Amino acid sequence: MAIDTQAVPAPGAPTRDRTAWWRDAVIYQVYLRSFADANGDGVGDLAGVRSGLPYLASLGVDALWFNPWYASPMADAGYDVADYRSIDPVFGTLAEAEALIDEAHALGLRIIVDVVPNHCSDQHSWFRAALDAGPGSPERELFWFRPGRGAHGELPPNDWKSEFGGPAWTRVTEPDGMPGQWYLHLFAAEQPDLNWNNPRVRAEHEDILRFWFDRGADGVRIDSATMPAKDPLLPDFDRAEPSGPHPFVDRDEVHEIYRAWRAVAESYPEPRALIGEVWLADAERFAAYLRPDEMHAAFNFDYLNCPWDAPRLRAVIDATLEAHAPVDAPATWVLSNHDVTRHVTRYGREDSAMGRSPWQHGAPTDLELGTRRARAALLLNLALPGSCYLYQGEELGLWEVSAIPDEQRQDPFFHRSGGADVGRDGCRVPLPWSDTAPPFGFSPQSATVQPWLPQPAEWAAHTVEALTGVPDSMLEFYRTALRLRREETALHGGSLSWHSGPDGEVLDFRRGTLRCVVNLSKQRVRLPEYASVILASVPLPQRTDTLPADAAVWLRTR
Ligand code: GLC
Repeated sequence: MAIDTQAVPAPGAPTRDRTAWWRDAVIYQVYLRSFADANGDGVGDLAGVRSGLPYLASLGVDALWFNPWYASPMADAGYDVADYRSIDPVFGTLAEAEALIDEAHALGLRIIVDVVPNHCSDQHSWFRAALDAGPGSPERELFWFRPGRGAHGELPPNDWKSEFGGPAWTRVTEPDGMPGQWYLHLFAAEQPDLNWNNPRVRAEHEDILRFWFDRGADGVRIDSATMPAKDPLLPDFDRAEPSGPHPFVDRDEVHEIYRAWRAVAESYPEPRALIGEVWLADAERFAAYLRPDEMHAAFNFDYLNCPWDAPRLRAVIDATLEAHAPVDAPATWVLSNHDVTRHVTRYGREDSAMGRSPWQHGAPTDLELGTRRARAALLLNLALPGSCYLYQGEELGLWEVSAIPDEQRQDPFFHRSGGADVGRDGCRVPLPWSDTAPPFGFSPQSATVQPWLPQPAEWAAHTVEALTGVPDSMLEFYRTALRLRREETALHGGSLSWHSGPDGEVLDFRRGTLRCVVNLSKQRVRLPEYASVILASVPLPQRTDTLPADAAVWLRTR
């Protein structure tokens, strides 16, 4: 489907500030449940993050993105929001969140909070009121309630499937005790979809944005950003025109939401950033979200899903830069997050593609190879034009944890698939900070409960304490690379020029006087002439003229 990405912005629409921080920031994703547990209940919390802020500042990142920290029954780890303006007690209080934002700012770290427009929790006051108010009430209009099909309404209103498996509809019991209407949930049953055709839904979410922006949040990450707009006729998916608009993904109407949000973001003296979770195969449709009066940036899932293969990475990088240029938006480079298999693990597998590869669970994995490639990939990501997202724990070289007992798994993907899909718990395991045995300093020594997911014993060699000060450790490598990226002005803004061809097994490009060479072949390759080595992903001999396989280097050219 084509969309005009060069559309002229509406009169009065903002013009781009090319110096804006989010254009080349390195943003660190804090998965709060698993960062640090200060109160000893086995779950990470705001107090834990506050004590970890000096660590994050010393790592050298520019901003922190927090997964949802709002009041939630945690049916989907907080993506089922019961109250968008309060902090879940398991994480702390609103006062602590405000203090955290101020303390982070004092350390030069910006804050991005997650907002979830597509759905809320079935415990949200609006949904409780809708259940109580019954069919035909204005309260039900805030969601998608419909009668069922079949002689007695016993069949779901249409054939849509939940992203987590099973039907996207659940039948409710009406106030009179009888089975009644069904409601739509594109994710878990505990996550009813909001009806964005209703002006109250729009006004409420704009107010939620202001609530967090007023508290100093520098931006928002927009969850499932392509999904809030639905075809109001709710047609069967099977009967939809293959070439026509999808009934709930990437409908043209969704853009109105983000134009309104952009206006809210621009109403602050220092405009706030909108960063979208936009999973779309079509590059033009993707770029449409980044028009000058919509979002500032969106995650690059094509890059995340690309295997460790030079021509394919080259093609994704070129396609990314090409798609972003007409809308003058910065590209983003991301390899891991809380939804996908950690890239140390993926890169150590025969099939290194696909961020989320449940069918690969237990596939043979060479972690040493994956780690080596992950180091090379860091130099590649940080040298590419745009902004970069890091997922907590990648700086420690953490891998996907597969040994999680079924009874401890929490992800709805696991439960709604009857265990066929192991889900995403393996990338969400609590961080190891210190000591030689679990909980590795994640929880205080006084804690009597175990961390909410079990940590592997091998992480003793991957704690912050074990890696700090060790010259070639993953952590010190990240610190050095991030410091150099800040210092290298050639890496801020501008584009790249390739030295390697599109089909080679080496990625070789220049940004100013910095040249980045990544060897994805199986053998050593010859390096170009250079003045000095700025940083390499593997120890290199003095004045070497070759680079080993699965390694990368930043060179200073003459
Ligand atoms: C996004 C989140 C994911 C969540 C889903 C539903 O994809 O990243 O963790 O389960 O939306 O909110």
